[in-house]
Amino acid sequence: MNKKIALAGPDITQKEVDYVIDAVKNGWYETYDMHIRKLEKTFAEYVGAKYAIATYCGTHALHLATLALELQLGDEVIVTDQSYIATAQAISYVGATCVFVDIDPDTLCIDTGLIRKAITDKTKAIMLVHFAGMAAKMDEIMALADEYGLKVIEDACQMVGGKYKGKYAGTIGDIGTYSFQGSKIAVGGEGGMFVTNNEALYKRALHYGTFCRNDAISFLWSDDVGYNYRISNVTAALILAQVERIDELIEKKKRIYDWYHEFLKGCKQIRLLDIPENCESNYAYVVGYLEDESHITRDELLAKLLELNIHARPGYPSMSAMPNYERRFEVPASIRYWEHGLVMPTALNLDQDDIKYVCIKIRELVGAKK
Ligand SMILES: Cc1ncc(COP(=O)(O)O)c(C=O)c1O
Repeated sequence: MNKKIALAGPDITQKEVDYVIDAVKNGWYETYDMHIRKLEKTFAEYVGAKYAIATYCGTHALHLATLALELQLGDEVIVTDQSYIATAQAISYVGATCVFVDIDPDTLCIDTGLIRKAITDKTKAIMLVHFAGMAAKMDEIMALADEYGLKVIEDACQMVGGKYKGKYAGTIGDIGTYSFQGSKIAVGGEGGMFVTNNEALYKRALHYGTFCRNDAISFLWSDDVGYNYRISNVTAALILAQVERIDELIEKKKRIYDWYHEFLKGCKQIRLLDIPENCESNYAYVVGYLEDESHITRDELLAKLLELNIHARPGYPSMSAMPNYERRFEVPASIRYWEHGLVMPTALNLDQDDIKYVCIKIRELVGAKK
């Protein structure tokens, strides 16, 4: 098969093309931000949040979250050990310390049973990740946050459209963040979103994301060191079309998820993760572990798949292993996922035959019975 079996990739229709052309043709002068405003309104209504700020990327939304919560040098933030590094870096941007906590191996989200012992006098917030379409245990996190007076940032960058106990991921804690980077379920190439129900947090985030401008004095006046984290109107138009189609995109991802579970059923060398209790997934990714029964290692498997033009990916490295960070607690589950984790190709241009082909090749390579 010559087709590239891509790890990720979007589903683009005429609607996206039309919205982008509209933005390019008409999104100037007094309508220079019309798609941005519409995107923010549409997204806020969709997830049921009071306020939304569209940003250039998800990392910027995370940085606005740490700025809005006034986290700073000397503060500690409890954060999951497994994520894309942007999660931890947004804590570092404001000088706060990341206190990494291990993951639940079944969901790859923060292990809520380990949070309490990571709390100190300096702890100000918990930053969790809804990992690969699996929701973190928000009830337990919010109960701990209440008990200790901590703020909660939900990194829902991988969870656009997913829910925990009927509520959209990202709307349960103080602040939620989302990404529309090209490998996400809904894309803009780059793109992000900050949501909150708290007006003060919203205003602070807006202020920091627009140079800390003080329009009451002058639109050229700035109160503090701020950032230009605004999204472009053209990108917002593309994301708007995707967000309007989000339920359809989730449906497509679910089909891919179901095919993997069907075609790898009974393959004891691969353990795919199931959607946890209380979670309505967006099925954005299909993740799992290569088990010890495999005839080849995880990295050998990835290399062999690549030779076949099948682009799977390993688990993220443990963030606390990276040179910039320190590890205060052991993180065996995170290390296991780093060493044995697998992310399957789930690009939205893949059909049932493609997924079947990937699964047949995986079965052959790991030495599964026919
Ligand atoms: C969990 C998580 N957090 C943060 C980010 C950063 O988002 P972005 O790439 O849009 O800056 C990503 C994805 O890239 C992510 O997967």
